[in-house]
Amino acid sequence: MTKLNNKIAIVTGGAGGIGSGIVRAYVKENAKVVIADIAAEKGQALSDELNDQGYETLFIKTDLSNKSSLKACVDRTIETYGQIDVLVNNAHASRMSPFLDITEDDLNLSLNTGFFATFYLCQMIIPHLKETKGNIINFGSGAAVKGDKNQGSYVVAKEAIRGITRVIANEFGEFGINANIISPIAYSEGVDQWRQDNPEYYNQVVKGIPLQKFGDVEKDIGPVAVFLGSDASQYITGQTIMVDGGSIKLY
Ligand SMILES: NC(=O)c1ccc[n+]([C@@H]2O[C@H](COP(=O)([O-])OP(=O)(O)OC[C@H]3O[C@@H](n4cnc5c(N)ncnc54)[C@H](O)[C@@H]3O)[C@@H](O)[C@H]2O)c1
Repeated sequence: MTKLNNKIAIVTGGAGGIGSGIVRAYVKENAKVVIADIAAEKGQALSDELNDQGYETLFIKTDLSNKSSLKACVDRTIETYGQIDVLVNNAHASRMSPFLDITEDDLNLSLNTGFFATFYLCQMIIPHLKETKGNIINFGSGAAVKGDKNQGSYVVAKEAIRGITRVIANEFGEFGINANIISPIAYSEGVDQWRQDNPEYYNQVVKGIPLQKFGDVEKDIGPVAVFLGSDASQYITGQTIMVDGGSIKLY
């Protein structure tokens, strides 16, 4: 018996980085996975690769900053599979900038791809999750918990995501819906780009991680996302799970 036997999952940002690690971990536990990402070539290539191996995935080109694109993704998932069991709101685009230089464009990028996409997908999908007693996994960040310098536009979206996740946990617990947050550290394409731009800062961050390395998107983040998407986590909701090598201890 696999941990996600025949569950239907949507993973936003599933074409690359942590999202692709979760997609790979999910199909190995027998989930059918919708990869919702704006990167069409990468997303389709990952879907084809996994389908050729006998897994079941569907790539749906989705622009998270566009509400009608979100609705089209949800509608096509329901048309194809008839149900949704797990929503993984993983993707989030943002720029770093000193607080006084943050522009409306910076705020819009972070809020639209991070907060509003998460918010609207939860609104659109919760009625389906009521049918399946499904699970929501949203994404936070240690940088937001700490309020790191130059992360103002990112923090505003990330902490709002943690806030609505607790609201959803409280409002929909009675329907058997669980909503939790993963706050990860993992070596993704996004991190690789940031490392190239800030090599010293990268080394400093690694030294500050008790387990002394960035996590692996599939081997370290994947299993936690599997757990939170599975029935094994049915008595956990509204929580932020730090999957960050011990960087932050919440209490
Ligand atoms: N990687 C880390 O160490 C780390 C640390 C803290 C938090 N996080 C959070 O984890 C999540 C995943 O991070 P990551 O490092 O894998 O990111 P990433 O930048 O490597 O990948 C993000 C994915 O989102 C997709 N995407 C970007 N804009 C989109 C849009 N408008 N519509 C649809 N898809 C879009 C990209 O194509 C890409 O596949 C994010 O929420 C991030 O904030 C990551």
